[in-house]
Amino acid sequence: MSSADSVPAEAAAEASRLRDQLNHHNHLYYVLDDPQIPDGEYDRLLRRLQDLEGQYPPLKTPDSPSQRVGAPPLDVFQQARHLMPMLSLDNAFSDDEVLDFNRRVTERLNRDGAIEYACEPKLDGIAASLIYRDGVLERGATRGDGTSGEDITQNVRTIGSIPLRLMGSDHPQLLEVRGEIYLPRSGFEAMNKAARDAGEKPFVNPRNAAAGSLRQLDSTITASRPLEMCAYSVGVVEGGELAETHTGVLAQLAQWGFLVNEHLQAVGDIDGCLSYYEKLSQLRDGLDYDIDGIVYKVNDLSLQNRLGFVARAPRWAIARKFPAQEEMTQLMDVEFQVGRTGSITPVARLQPVFVGGVTVTNATLHNRDEIKRLGLKVLDTVVVRRAGDVIPQVVSVVADRRPDDAQDIAFPDKCPACDSPVEQIEGEVVARCSGGLVCPAQRKEAIKHFASRKALDVDGLGDKIVEQLVDRDLVQTPADLFALTVEQIADLERMAEKSASNLVAALEKSRDTTLPRFLYALGIREVGEATAQSLANHFGSLDALFQTDEEALQEVDDVGPVVAHFVADFFASPSNRQVIEQLQQAGVNWPAITPRSESELPLAGQTWVLTGTLESMSRSEAKEKLQQLGAKVAGSVSAKSSCVVAGPGAGSKLTKAQQLGIEVMDEQQLIDMLKGHQ
Ligand code: IVH
Repeated sequence: MSSADSVPAEAAAEASRLRDQLNHHNHLYYVLDDPQIPDGEYDRLLRRLQDLEGQYPPLKTPDSPSQRVGAPPLDVFQQARHLMPMLSLDNAFSDDEVLDFNRRVTERLNRDGAIEYACEPKLDGIAASLIYRDGVLERGATRGDGTSGEDITQNVRTIGSIPLRLMGSDHPQLLEVRGEIYLPRSGFEAMNKAARDAGEKPFVNPRNAAAGSLRQLDSTITASRPLEMCAYSVGVVEGGELAETHTGVLAQLAQWGFLVNEHLQAVGDIDGCLSYYEKLSQLRDGLDYDIDGIVYKVNDLSLQNRLGFVARAPRWAIARKFPAQEEMTQLMDVEFQVGRTGSITPVARLQPVFVGGVTVTNATLHNRDEIKRLGLKVLDTVVVRRAGDVIPQVVSVVADRRPDDAQDIAFPDKCPACDSPVEQIEGEVVARCSGGLVCPAQRKEAIKHFASRKALDVDGLGDKIVEQLVDRDLVQTPADLFALTVEQIADLERMAEKSASNLVAALEKSRDTTLPRFLYALGIREVGEATAQSLANHFGSLDALFQTDEEALQEVDDVGPVVAHFVADFFASPSNRQVIEQLQQAGVNWPAITPRSESELPLAGQTWVLTGTLESMSRSEAKEKLQQLGAKVAGSVSAKSSCVVAGPGAGSKLTKAQQLGIEVMDEQQLIDMLKGHQ
């Protein structure tokens, strides 16, 4: 009797059912980002399968979801010869180089018309090849030198977004899927936090962390790392037909259970490629994974075949690289800036360096601990990183370039702006000036915040003007702004009669505001836009807020003990109350709000997403209105989103909403909905 025969039919049937269920939920969780059962339930199903497999070992097949937890450690990785070489890509660093690429393609194909291209992000991870025989994952390998890599089958089996058995039907008998294995940024942060908590050295970046995780001989370690794989092409295909375009093939791969990048898009011509680059440059920072460029591929596979390869790269594809995000430069000095709440932030003054597409001269050093962690000295050569709109950071010191005259950095014990003692509360990383509003630096920041766009939105009151107003003692508190005359303002540097009267008019206009904006403008510690909105909805008026206490404040959505303490403290201060009174006397006013607990608001508990352009209002107005009705407004679509408002130009967020079956409305429907709740 063979071992398979010794498994009772019932057990085999149950194991097969469990495998189907686990594969289905695994796909929902890792690929569609739409889990439908709690983790505990998934674990229960998995445990049941493991028990069955323990009892009847023949049930333990390589494509069983139980194999995702890892296997006994290996001594070495075996070599894996690629069935078809894994090539690399030529790079383009400018629009002109992309246009040159298109010219070469068009000429070689002898075509008049435009070429259709598939555009997709160039993921910054590790290239991998997966071989499926009869639909079952047989081998996973790294790219290596392109001819052979390392056999990492045990490790790839632990990656949730890699199917162990292809879903659906109609797959070729032999199929090689290629893609990039990477760590999402969120997973990387979580991994590094755990490493730090355990006193271990954190990883430098998600790519290194992904490479390190994948090259583990003990695959249970790989299993503990939140790796993902995004499929971007196929290699060997035998015994089956694939679609005729690259995007068609990727759609097939998605149906077979692979993760395909959400931003994959076909464009009609090379201009479409250039716009795609602009679009992705904007989206780049908000993505949960690192990308270092865009890959353009001729979409028609028969044209790809005609174009063929040159040396080690295909003629039908090119990688348009983003400008480097890290460069080296020298630290010339460190200055200390005082923020709105007195926080002292060390700022690196750098030898100007071109990085992330701009010239950078300053970078934040965050706090005292960060200087210590970096082991930084003035005149050190440092690596500076600028990613998108994020303020530039000093990532590390290049130790072997330290000059003999490098100097230690002394953190000040007196405020550089007002000489008050600097305090640091035990357990907090931030050191603060104790001068409060006596400190001109804190005053300046408080006033800048008060006038900022999401606060009273005073058009034309730039930082330089605020600084002069405080330096000349014309303004001490935000209330003083409303007493300014055209003459006083016109007298400031770089101001004239016209701009001064514009500013007075803007101040006048800003007096008609809303309670949430006003609360936000006060600059209470830890009270951002959303908290200000919740406070306004809950209490309805400033008077009610004056009379409340910490306990009652904690009843507000998202307000915990820390925020409650800061809010209560703020309103208990006589000088703050005086400023508020003066502001009201100066005419700052807002329409009354009927206080409602969040749960009574019409959109309570809902999360909305805005995407594409809106015509009759700005995105921030729409956001404000939705928040007033109790909704949270999020930047990305998930299974938990309640509704997506999609204007013209909406892209992947709309697609994802449709895939997940989330309600989508256009601008007019939004307006109607808002009207209905007026
Ligand atoms: S296609 C023959 N598509 O970039 C073309 N590659 O420099 C094969 N990469 O080793 C690659 N994202 O690891 C392709 N969407 C994408 C990619 C991508 C990242 C990596 C890949 C390759 C390297 C080439």
